[in-house]
Amino acid sequence: MCGIVAVSANRNVVEVIVNGLQTLEYRGYDSAGIAIIEGDHIAIRKQAGKLSQLKQELAAHPVAGHVGIGHTRWATHGEPTSANAHPHDSNNAIAVVHNGIIENYRPLREQLIAAGYAFKSATDTETLVHLIHHYQAQGMGFSAASHQAIGQLEGAYAVAITCMSDPNRIIAARKGSPLVVGLGDGENFVASDVQALINETNQFHYLEDGDVVEITQDSCHIFDAAGQPVERELKTVTLSSEALTKDGYAHYMLKEIHEQPTAVANTIAERLYNGRISPYFINEAATAILQQVDNIHIIACGTSYHAGLVARYWLEAITQIPTQVEIASEYRYRKPVVPQNTLFLTISQSGETADSLAALRFAKTANYLSTFAVCNVANSSLDRETEHCILTHAGPEIGVASTKALTTQLTVLALLTLKLAEIKQVDEAVRKNLAEQLITLPGIINQSLLLDDQIKVMAEKIVQRDNALFLGRGVHYPIALEGALKLKEISYIHAEGYPAGELKHGPLALVDEKMPVIAVCPNDELLEKLESNIEEVRARGGELFAFVDHKSQHGLKDRVNHLIELEASGSFTSPIVFNVPLQLLSYHVAVLRGTDVDQPRNLAKSVTVE
Ligand code: F6R
Repeated sequence: MCGIVAVSANRNVVEVIVNGLQTLEYRGYDSAGIAIIEGDHIAIRKQAGKLSQLKQELAAHPVAGHVGIGHTRWATHGEPTSANAHPHDSNNAIAVVHNGIIENYRPLREQLIAAGYAFKSATDTETLVHLIHHYQAQGMGFSAASHQAIGQLEGAYAVAITCMSDPNRIIAARKGSPLVVGLGDGENFVASDVQALINETNQFHYLEDGDVVEITQDSCHIFDAAGQPVERELKTVTLSSEALTKDGYAHYMLKEIHEQPTAVANTIAERLYNGRISPYFINEAATAILQQVDNIHIIACGTSYHAGLVARYWLEAITQIPTQVEIASEYRYRKPVVPQNTLFLTISQSGETADSLAALRFAKTANYLSTFAVCNVANSSLDRETEHCILTHAGPEIGVASTKALTTQLTVLALLTLKLAEIKQVDEAVRKNLAEQLITLPGIINQSLLLDDQIKVMAEKIVQRDNALFLGRGVHYPIALEGALKLKEISYIHAEGYPAGELKHGPLALVDEKMPVIAVCPNDELLEKLESNIEEVRARGGELFAFVDHKSQHGLKDRVNHLIELEASGSFTSPIVFNVPLQLLSYHVAVLRGTDVDQPRNLAKSVTVE
């Protein structure tokens, strides 16, 4: 994780860097810093805490210059203190910002200490800056010294380096962590993603693993892992800077929850036509692969993993294709058996999650039929490395807690299920019904959003609690898991999601009058069973909160403490619909508890380290 911005221009670059870092705070917000070539020295300002702390520092002690690098940190090596904040410098001659982990930093650090370098931080990054200085002291120029030092790094990294002896040049490199180069008129940029630079340019090179780039105000040279000059495609990015604002909402998370009807409609648009999947969904080559699929392995992390769990229920029930779902960080260290004709499918909002990418890279060496991905970020590492990528059209998701990304992932997975149902010649009436449910989905999600006031009242009952249990059954069990994940990550209330039938095998022991139990109760064939599980909770005095389908014949009205009725949805899209009020519930609990909703403690949006 961590965010990087670097600029070489003919104007003061401080504001450009700070504005870029603002959009990159999703990548980490433990500390922030900036290094600017200012006359005869490198001016460094850095602060523990969020970018707002750095802004205060810059207001008190301003800097100005035409060349600089900036960083927002998610701590790996060394606590989130000001000393460990980036940039790190060596003798005020070179400064470096770094995202990722330098795995061989210990032996390098020992060598450098033996050579007389004094370390000021506990970071792995400081090794790199002294190493470059060490090579420069031996007579190498900035470029040669940087290439030499970068070549020695093991691990995953993106770095940007600035140097007093070659003050217009910035050198940057990536291996395993994302980095883009933005081209302007008389100015050039490097950043962790295009959002950071979208106010400056829409022309980007996406660097590949092993690439090193050198920019000045009027030049840009890219070298591949072998050190050879290389051309990388120049892409024009269409992303409006309005998409990155809160647009009047109190938090990005709330805005993103409310964007879901549009995001789903955009994700379905042109991909579903007359009840059938259109050729705009996937191309002929991908369709040819799907025709051969006998098994599916889905790999993802966190909320995206929950999307995969839902998809398994759909794929097996509707297409009868055996489907396994696994957490990427576990899968990558297993020796999975890959049966003939198995499709590998990764799901990721960011497309930069290290564990998911590692799983994909492993899959490409295994016996898979092909690799597919569902991803929200075009041109991300996942999009570029997978054989076939289906993009969700959620738009930028900035709140750390994933909301519209999940909803659109599920929408794409529903479309994929429908595509496979066509290939497997599932009964046409069944398929038509599924397609109709998808068409009405944006409208039904809109109805769920109207429950906001009722949900706020429910949140008031939960805000003082230390724990919560979320229950679901069948395809709604992953929705219970997701409800618990959302509550814990933004409100810091300990929460667990359970399949309701499993309660009596242990967790029921936790239930007493202090335990809120939140049940997802759709109108499906498991409703009666779920009602019995709810009785088990009631008998132990647990406080029951239920979300029900307003058309269902449930007997819950007098048996739960708080009940909210949702607009009826079909059984296929119901998990997508039931997830929405749970997002709002977590949101309101977090707001009432006064936590940092968009940037919860210890987390980051894009997890590019193991
Ligand atoms: C939870 C959340 C995380 C992500 C996970 C995977 O709200 O956002 O659990 O889902 O870090 O990230 P992506 O989808 O970018 O691979």
